[in-house]
Parts: sequence; structure tokens; C-alpha cells
Amino acid sequence: GTKLEILNDEFKLVHQYNPIEHIESRLKTDESITRKLIRKGKEITVENIQKYIDDIAGVRVICSFTPDIYRIVDMISSQDDIEVLKTKDYMLNPKVNGYRSYHLIVRVPIFLSDRVVPTKVEIQIRTVAQDFWATLQHKMHYKFEGDGPDYITKELRECARYVAELDTRMEELNNEIQKYGKLSDKK
Ligand code: GTP
Ligand code: MG
Repeated sequence: GTKLEILNDEFKLVHQYNPIEHIESRLKTDESITRKLIRKGKEITVENIQKYIDDIAGVRVICSFTPDIYRIVDMISSQDDIEVLKTKDYMLNPKVNGYRSYHLIVRVPIFLSDRVVPTKVEIQIRTVAQDFWATLQHKMHYKFEGDGPDYITKELRECARYVAELDTRMEELNNEIQKYGKLSDKK
């Protein structure tokens, strides 16, 4: 989280705008870790947690426009002490339900008082609009413990299309606005 905030501040200094709208982070609960191991058919051991669970630490990066997502991916990937283990581009390949985001599993060194522990972190990067959609879709998924009623699933998929279109139009609009210099430049 701190690394991303530093990158965002630096980017703002150089390019006069923030690619990151805000950052959320969470740690997976014991219960959720256990549930996931059981789901994967693995015995509950510390070794298996390290081996099979990539998202104990999760960071979500919310940005305004789609190109910001790839900017952030590039910034993360070019950090010397971040090792990218896996990427999933649900922007390029949206899920059938309409889900779009960019996911990375990275390994970062966590500096403890007496040693350095390489730690896996799941990073999800998405636009504000995609986050709005994903939050509601997650709520539905949780409520129905899987797929909800057909008409809701369909409506969500339709909304995902609107979200994608809104993102494109807002980006184009932003580009238009950027074409105009600052008012003070005209003097
Ligand atoms: P998990 O076993 O759930 O971690 O999935 P995975 O290993 O196939 O990884 P993936 O990158 O597809 O998903 C990781 C996380 O992204 C999930 O735990 C969710 O937080 C989020 N995610 C993935 N797909 C969806 C989706 O369809 N809807 C929503 N709301 N979130 C999703
Ligand atoms: Mg997960």
C-alpha cells in the first residue's frame, strides 16, 4: 500500500494527475483461509497455506480511467523488489458474468525486526465504475451462495456492458478536457 502511494505521489508530481483514486487493503480471516483450503481439498497446515493461498494479503487499487490500470500494472512490474508471479487480465478477457479488473499475484519482501519474509499479495486493479459493479455482483454472489436468479444475473451482465461503455466515454471526455490548456496558459 505504501509503495503504491509513493508511486502515485511521484506520478502526480511528474504528470500533474493521480492515476490512483484510492487504495483498499485487507487480510484474509483465519476462517476464510480454512474454508479455501478445504475447498481446494488440502489439509490445513501452515505449509499448505503458504503454498496454495495467494490472497492472504489483498490490495485493491481503484482508479478513474482504464489506461490508469495498465499504468499502475507497469509501475508495479518495474519495481526491483516486487516479483510478479501471476497476472490475470479480466479487462482484455472479461468473465462471462461481466466482471472486469486486472489481477496480479506478486511477492514482496516484508521487513520484520530480525528477518525479511517474502510475502505473496493479491493486487486487484479496477476503475471506480468497475468497483461499483463488482461490489454489487459480489453481494449477489454472497447472498445466493453462487449464481443468483436468472433475471438478476442477466441484468448484472447488462449493467457490466454499461459500465464498460461509461468507462470508455468518460475516458474520451477526459481526453477532450485535457486538450484544453490551463486558463492561465492563454495569457
Ligand atoms: P479465488 O479462488 O476466488 O481467489 O479465484 P482465482 O484463484 O481463480 O483468482 P481470480 O483472480 O479469478 O479471483 C481473485 C479474486 O478476484 C476473488 O477472490 C474476488 O475478490 C475477485 N473476483 C474474481 N472474479 C470475480 C467476480 O466475478 N466478481 C467479483 N465481484 N469479484 C471477483
Ligand atoms: Mg480470492
